[in-house]
Amino acid sequence: MHKMQLRPSWQILLFLTCLVRLCNGSEILLLISCPRQAAEQCRTWRDNLRQQQISDKIPRDYDYAIKVHIMHELFNYWTLLDALPYLRGQTRLLNANTDWIIWCQHNTHVASLRGLLEQLHQRDAQELAYYGHALYDTEATIVHHFANYKDPTWFPYPMLSAGVVFTGALLRSLVELVALNAPNATRHSEFAIDAAHELARFIFDNIAPADDGSSSSSSSGSGSGSRSNNVDSNISISKDDNDFVDMLQRKIILKSADYICPWARVSPAWSLASLETTAAATAKESKPVSCVLHAKPEMAAGSAVHCVHTTGAHIYFAIKTCAKFHKERIPIIERTWAPDAIRRKYYSDVADDGIPTTGTGLPNVPTGHCAKTLAILQLSLKDINELTDIRWLMLVDDDTLLSVPRLSKLLGCYNHTNNIYLGERYGYRLYAPDGFNYHTGGAGIVLSVPLLRLVVQRCSCPTASAPDDMILGYCLQALGVTATHVPALHQARPQDYAPELLQLNAPISFHKYWHTSPEHTYKRWLGGALGNASSAHATAKDRRAAPLALNGLLQLPNQLAAGLEGSAKHLDL
Ligand SMILES: *[C@@H]1O[C@H](CO)[C@@H](O)[C@H](O)[C@H]1NC(C)=O
Ligand SMILES: *[C@@H]1O[C@H](CO)[C@@H](O)[C@H](O)[C@H]1NC(C)=O
Ligand SMILES: *[C@@H]1O[C@H](CO)[C@@H](O)[C@H](O)[C@H]1NC(C)=O
Ligand SMILES: *[C@@H]1O[C@H](CO)[C@@H](O)[C@H](O)[C@H]1NC(C)=O
Repeated sequence: MHKMQLRPSWQILLFLTCLVRLCNGSEILLLISCPRQAAEQCRTWRDNLRQQQISDKIPRDYDYAIKVHIMHELFNYWTLLDALPYLRGQTRLLNANTDWIIWCQHNTHVASLRGLLEQLHQRDAQELAYYGHALYDTEATIVHHFANYKDPTWFPYPMLSAGVVFTGALLRSLVELVALNAPNATRHSEFAIDAAHELARFIFDNIAPADDGSSSSSSSGSGSGSRSNNVDSNISISKDDNDFVDMLQRKIILKSADYICPWARVSPAWSLASLETTAAATAKESKPVSCVLHAKPEMAAGSAVHCVHTTGAHIYFAIKTCAKFHKERIPIIERTWAPDAIRRKYYSDVADDGIPTTGTGLPNVPTGHCAKTLAILQLSLKDINELTDIRWLMLVDDDTLLSVPRLSKLLGCYNHTNNIYLGERYGYRLYAPDGFNYHTGGAGIVLSVPLLRLVVQRCSCPTASAPDDMILGYCLQALGVTATHVPALHQARPQDYAPELLQLNAPISFHKYWHTSPEHTYKRWLGGALGNASSAHATAKDRRAAPLALNGLLQLPNQLAAGLEGSAKHLDL
């Protein structure tokens, strides 16, 4: 959809547009959302783009000022919605002259700046619109807060790593909405899980196209979006409804852009053999437009990194279980990834010599597990102190599936003597001063051994049933340790993620056996020959944690602790 073909008259049109706008003052803002440990990679990225700007013979018609900005100092740099106030605030990065904003990640690649400018030049920067590679859900999924559509498959959301292009008009409307009307704008959750989907829903729920249907009326360009007439996307919308087309006309959804692609030309090597071709990949075959923006596999060895040989024997696996699941779940782990995880221990409320499991001495609670998890970390540290050669601890659930070879390879590229905290990053209340990032438990949480020591010394639970993974994240953020996101780790099942995302980065974990065959999931996505395939390769430069600001045990502020108790039920699904 939305394919614009060049017609003979386009140059004339461009020429006229150019005269009207006097060819000056228009800006393109390119934002790179960059994890701190990839800072070097991001600077190279920026220099590369500047080089293209000079050498690429950009036609004078495309005379934009291009500003490139690397965002990696903010804890919420990874969600555009929460970073918006910053763009308008002190930095003044976004202003009335900004025609286009391109939101990228450190693994986005601009294959041709010239090609990109050609594409932008054909489009109306005054329209409330955004463009990207459209991803679709195959079913309602927890990672999208079970977006409550009768049919969730029609709703497009952008693949962030491929790059997303916004008109200045849309982004200025968003900024205004987030800044002034925040309490009234519809947010579905306090949790940031998939920033791309949450952004797409926020736009869908809160902004309506300008009245004339094509472009916004205000020429000043600020705040031209009308508020939507409060149609919540929670209403059940289905493709089969007669009003579906009507509804879409009153909404802003992502426009699929064929010049923005999920990968260069061929899909990443690891997946070629085994995966069904995605809709996107087939669509690409017949595509006339080349991919000027695309994603690269995360952590693809762009810069030379010092990686050390690491195997499953360097990793201590602490597996959280309870008596109820000894017979049901432990055998599944034993049949799948356990043989690669020599240093594994099952921690349970009940010690069972037949498996064996180790008792934590604490009763099981239905949710949260904070006390149990801290007890597990203490017991694990005792074990590790008596073993030689353990560099990492990975904490998982009894329904987590892993590829230990891929995990080992990834960890080998991080410096295990530093404080390293890896996992699938979620955010809680990132728009607020008390917000924080944390790694979600089911996907697996990795701590370097020095960091494990620090956690045991410094972190505590507000209550026994507080959500363990969130408390850990909160504590580590307070200690100045960054939550480093590993996109190959997954809190949910393969069917809960868009195929392109699974294809881009060879998966390391999945979680939950619900409506799946775990053995099948393991074989197809994590095990077999694929388990060894070269894949997720960290370019992480080791970073030092900020100096500790506090002494003694960290305590969660009471109010936040209470809020977390209330939200625990959302977390344990
Ligand atoms: C938010 O909504 C309330 C009640 O609907 C209204 O009174 C108030 O003016 C709105 N605030 C803004 C900033 O729009
Ligand atoms: C969304 O729909 C569900 C089920 O129909 C309902 O329970 C819930 O209250 C609704 N949420 C909002 C925000 O309207
Ligand atoms: C790991 O970090 C330590 C301490 O910061 C440093 O001394 C060491 O050289 C680093 N090792 C590698 C392989 O970079
Ligand atoms: C994985 O790699 C190891 C060491 O490189 C090798 O011994 C093993 O046979 C490989 N396994 C598979 C399934 O390819």
